[in-house]
Amino acid sequence: MNLIDIKGVSHAYRTPSGPLPVLAGLDLGVPAGTFAAVVGPSGCGKSTLTRLVAGLMIPDTGEVRLHGERVRSPRKTVGMAFQNPVLLEWRTILDNVILPLEIVAPRTSRASRVARAEELLALVGLSGFEGKKPSELSGGMRQRASLCRSIVHKPEVLIMDEPFGALDNFTREDLWQTMRDLRAKEPFTCVLITHDLRESVFLGDQVIVLSGRPARTQRVMPVDLPADRTIDILYEPRAVAMLHDLRDEIRIAQGREGAH
Ligand SMILES: Nc1ncnc2c1ncn2[C@@H]1O[C@H](COP(=O)(O)OP(=O)(O)OP(=O)(O)O)[C@@H](O)[C@H]1O
Ligand SMILES: [Mg+2]
Repeated sequence: MNLIDIKGVSHAYRTPSGPLPVLAGLDLGVPAGTFAAVVGPSGCGKSTLTRLVAGLMIPDTGEVRLHGERVRSPRKTVGMAFQNPVLLEWRTILDNVILPLEIVAPRTSRASRVARAEELLALVGLSGFEGKKPSELSGGMRQRASLCRSIVHKPEVLIMDEPFGALDNFTREDLWQTMRDLRAKEPFTCVLITHDLRESVFLGDQVIVLSGRPARTQRVMPVDLPADRTIDILYEPRAVAMLHDLRDEIRIAQGREGAH
């Protein structure tokens, strides 16, 4: 059974100039412990999809299920990460990472929370920065800390909406490898929204291509590459073929078939 099951979801925002259909028949199935990368044209409804999975919005029609259960309200068991890591400047990095535990597990001891946060910070290469304030870290380091915060409470599902979009290319590739290593040590189920096709192939177990707005599932591409893949794999023929294929799909989604 899929951990996340989205079937036939349609939704329209109510706007002053009338309903704006954003999703129209979206399907998505994510098995437990796997990583689904979602790509699609700008404005097609990707962030809307994340709100549905998190239970922040209920669709007009169709079903969103976690563990077979209809999602009808915000879920504590969902972790979220966004493009701009919203770290609290008045808290240290360690205390930022601990924050979800204070909310989800208020009865745990401070010592156990600190141990958990330190363990994750070490995994992402931030040992020694626990006492720093967010502004003392680089953008890539802040995003690492934000990643730790989004999984510190072991959420069932991690939803990431273009988390690496604001980073330079090298830092972004570093973060992809950090994600890969985190997954190996801390299995979680992830939906990653991205506009970077290489990122979708490097991190995804499947890549879901959404059509232009209103979005439906246009293509589901399994990524048949080893879990311990390195960046080099993106230059191998099988990955390059997938990237070409995805580029063609995006052109179709943008309504620009045949353009090069
Ligand atoms: N709360 C809202 N009320 C009305 N319209 C909205 C609302 N949220 C989003 N929209 C509109 O719905 C459409 C889809 O928005 P959404 O943010 O889901 O797209 P997206 O695929 O994430 O875009 P991007 O690639 O730019 O991040 C857009 O046209 C947006 O303007
Ligand atoms: Mg968006």
